[in-house]
Amino acid sequence: MSSQGDEAAEQGPETVGSALSSSSAETDATSGDFITVTIGATVPTGFEHTAAEEIKEKIGVDARISKDRGRIYFPITTDKLFQVHLLRSVDNLFVVVEEYDHYQFKESKEETLMELQQLAAKLPWTNALEVWKLNGTLKKKKGHRKGGNGAKVKPNSEAGDAAIADTEDQDLSQAVSAAEGQKKAEETPDTETCTQDAEETSPGAKLIKFRVTCNRAGDKHSFSSNDAARDFGGAVQEFFQWKADMTKFDIEVLLNIHNEEVVIGIALTEESLHRRNISHFGPTTLRSTLCYGMLRLCKPQASDIILDPMCGTGAIPLEGAIEFNSSFYIAGDNNDMAVNRTVNNVCHIQKRRADKGSVSGLPIDTVQWDLCNLPIRTSSIDIIITDMPFGKRMGSRKKNWDLYPSCLREMARVCRPGSGKAVLLTQDKKCFSKAISRMGGLWRKQHTVWVNVGGLHAGVYLLKRTGAVFGQTPEDVYESRGPANTQGDDKDDKELS
Ligand SMILES: C[S@@+](CC[C@H](N)C(=O)[O-])C[C@H]1O[C@@H](n2cnc3c(N)ncnc32)[C@H](O)[C@@H]1O
Repeated sequence: MSSQGDEAAEQGPETVGSALSSSSAETDATSGDFITVTIGATVPTGFEHTAAEEIKEKIGVDARISKDRGRIYFPITTDKLFQVHLLRSVDNLFVVVEEYDHYQFKESKEETLMELQQLAAKLPWTNALEVWKLNGTLKKKKGHRKGGNGAKVKPNSEAGDAAIADTEDQDLSQAVSAAEGQKKAEETPDTETCTQDAEETSPGAKLIKFRVTCNRAGDKHSFSSNDAARDFGGAVQEFFQWKADMTKFDIEVLLNIHNEEVVIGIALTEESLHRRNISHFGPTTLRSTLCYGMLRLCKPQASDIILDPMCGTGAIPLEGAIEFNSSFYIAGDNNDMAVNRTVNNVCHIQKRRADKGSVSGLPIDTVQWDLCNLPIRTSSIDIIITDMPFGKRMGSRKKNWDLYPSCLREMARVCRPGSGKAVLLTQDKKCFSKAISRMGGLWRKQHTVWVNVGGLHAGVYLLKRTGAVFGQTPEDVYESRGPANTQGDDKDDKELS
């Protein structure tokens, strides 16, 4: 079975609210035939509260933030499943089978693994498998066919679609009936008989392929994520009579262990939702979910002009133009390949929309420029939002010492004094803080969100453009007369006069 994230514990924020119950077996009285389940979602680390806000706004429920940073949980009735897939702040989704806030692991590795094996047959799988089944139907309606179970798919073939639907339904009923068999098992001590019942419910049905993925964090476990995935996976296989397959699986069972917290779930996404906007990736393409979090931080308003002066593949302005589309976005970069990628990404989305019959274009334009010398009028931009070179994969730490102050100064020039904002992402925190302190009060730091970008600890800084007039502080005058920026200086003088 596969395993991931066998890292030492990183203590996250406290759990908010009380623990949710697992997939509720009862049918909610107010929701007719819908069942109530708990959905788990991975979100960009640091933006858990942003995701919780979005869920409250769009689905109307309170989300609980897990101790495990980067995960949140919320209850839904199954009629809301489609809306869950439309959330912009979540990466991967799963339905919770069962969760334990304080799982008491045994002392020895052998005992612990034995207990995990026994757990597989005791878990309340039925509702989670029903949701997985429903999820498959939704994905088919959406025409979404990628990832693990993509192997069965024959695109562009209606006959193929029908065949898939049949096979999946058959597989699913086999899975669900195995779980139902288990329900009966709970009523009688003879589990063997019930497992046998489950096998007999759908003779000749195609074997379901599955894998177990264990994500483990914590330094007090006597076992590795590999051990847990292997032994728990073996027991799942025995219970359902599924076939283990690491790559072409129909079902991915998740075993998430964070210190004493254990959550067992079934994956509802095959590919992280963060890749949704980008067809032309670059070396440092930002996850769309992180872009969404950054955009929410600056609260775009109707008719705001929003600038990403170092847009790379355009991930931030594209997410903005799609989700906060009453603002206008300008995306620029000094690298022609980056500009081409942005143009291609924009065109790709436009085409996808046109294919679906939409006539409205995206409110975005793309330019090649040097950020330190923008062809933009002073005080004309409402929001600047960008992902700066960290100096690792992009640029260098040494260059950042010149680049950051020049960027911040030019951004201060074009940004509207008094009301303008900037949301800037960087991992080069020392250089950034030093550059801000040299801005002569043009920017004020309001808030920092600490995030994890590809394993790097980075800051998303929300800055407010103060009312100070550009070009009047000693720092502006001194710096802008420097040899590196003489052109910009001339332009500033012209525009200010
Ligand atoms: C971290 S990357 C941005 C990645 C982007 N957010 C994405 O999702 O693809 C930083 C970008 O800054 C650009 N850049 C560096 N110096 C620049 C400058 N002086 N003017 C404009 N762009 C610059 C680089 O070409 C690079 O594309």
